[in-house]
Amino acid sequence: MPKVTAQGKTFECDSGSNLRKVLLEHGIELYNGNAKIINCMGIGTCGTCAVQVEGEVSEPNWKDKARR
Ligand code: FES
Repeated sequence: MPKVTAQGKTFECDSGSNLRKVLLEHGIELYNGNAKIINCMGIGTCGTCAVQVEGEVSEPNWKDKARR
């Protein structure tokens, strides 16, 4: 089970989970300023929830590749 550490909190999630949803469910602040209100809600078009990931992750899907 993957372990996630962010903003001083550490928790586990199911393999294959949506990281944005997991972080928000655990009270992690992903957004700054107006992006808290105006963001794409995880569609992957605004980039405001971008995070740096360390460790083993799944291969990028088509949305990840298109965004990059
Ligand atoms: S909320 Fe994550 S890319 Fe827009």
